[in-house]
Amino acid sequence: MKRVGIIGAGTMGTGIAQVAATYDYRVKLYDAKASALEHAKDSLRSILSRLVEKGKITPAARLDILTNISFVTRLGDLEDSELIIEAIVEDLNVKKGIFTELDNCVSNNCIVASNTSSLSISSIASAFKRPDRCIGIHFFNPAPLMRLVEIIPAVQTSIEVISKAEKIIQSWGKTVVRAKDTPGFIVNRVARPFYGEALRIYDEGIADVPTIDYSLKKLGGFKMGPFELMDFIGNDVNYAVTESVFNAFFCDPRYKPSFTQKRLAEAGFLGRKSGKGYYNYDENAPVKEPIKDKKLNGQIFNRILVMLINEAADAVFWNIASSSDIDLAMIKGVNYPKGLLQWADEVGINWVVEEMDKLFDRYREERYRCSPILRDMLKDNKTFFNGTK
Ligand code: NAI
Repeated sequence: MKRVGIIGAGTMGTGIAQVAATYDYRVKLYDAKASALEHAKDSLRSILSRLVEKGKITPAARLDILTNISFVTRLGDLEDSELIIEAIVEDLNVKKGIFTELDNCVSNNCIVASNTSSLSISSIASAFKRPDRCIGIHFFNPAPLMRLVEIIPAVQTSIEVISKAEKIIQSWGKTVVRAKDTPGFIVNRVARPFYGEALRIYDEGIADVPTIDYSLKKLGGFKMGPFELMDFIGNDVNYAVTESVFNAFFCDPRYKPSFTQKRLAEAGFLGRKSGKGYYNYDENAPVKEPIKDKKLNGQIFNRILVMLINEAADAVFWNIASSSDIDLAMIKGVNYPKGLLQWADEVGINWVVEEMDKLFDRYREERYRCSPILRDMLKDNKTFFNGTK
């Protein structure tokens, strides 16, 4: 019998438990709070009932999934797991504490993973007595629906553990990409300009919120505009990720947070969940129409696209992941209509370099520096996926 232990029965832990149990793993879900386990049990029951109602799973499958999950109140109960995934609060010291506690209650060949979105895997692994068995396994929310999982080896992780972890996660129907242990991994790093440059355009007074969203959806084919997405994620959560990536990159100006978003979060204008964010979600609130001006919309879309491409290219430059994994991650992890590096090939590397240089000339800010890889590619007539032009 294949066994997995999950620490933390919140949003992510419960979702990951559902995924593993669906693929016939025996899951033990542990939480420090009995109330969290009760809540997880209730929520799994009702989610699975809804799947039965919708005809997505049979009543027998629902029962099998529920039978595969047990709820435990002692960390030691996870001792027979071949893989343990930690999904507790996003706090380095608390996570390290759990990894140290695990020292005495897991077998020598157990893989111990963290689902952290922003903390250093190498740092978390250092708290475990066999750090070569530790790895980052980063699911996206909601875990049962999102196909992408980022696998992040720590500096200490053994090659055997990387390939074993990848095999298990693939066997759960997930698409796996591999990322270097750096802030934001792939998705939370490469996606930053989608929010940051949209906010910058707004803060400069170039366009209002609906017009920026309209430009990205209409010209780029994005399912949601940046402000709609920030309201959906929650301005508190999105701001916290931006700030943590900015700090983790030693205050690289490219990731500088916006006061507009900080103030919204401080005011409690969190987006959909609070009824108000960049938009007002009161059903009687007036709807503000976007300005539909080809030149303006094109200018907005081009600026955000070129910043996204530059970020993706820079991730290749710094060996964060392969070009194909970066494109796959953005398509599967955040539903981008196309991979950014594929997009770069289509619009032309020369265009990307020119647009970045125009922004840099205008602002003279590090934020707009063009990645060296793009200049090299232009010089050598190279593309990301089609070899030499
Ligand atoms: P959550 O707040 O919903 O759940 C955390 C659970 O951990 C709670 O039930 C809490 O009682 C439990 N917990 C806290 N400290 C504990 C400890 N010392 N021992 C045992 N249980 C403990 O959090 P969520 O959203 O599920 O996030 C969990 C992790 O997953 C975090 O590291 C987060 O950054 C990461 N993550 C979150 C995503 C999201 O969209 N919510 C997406 C991807 C990763």
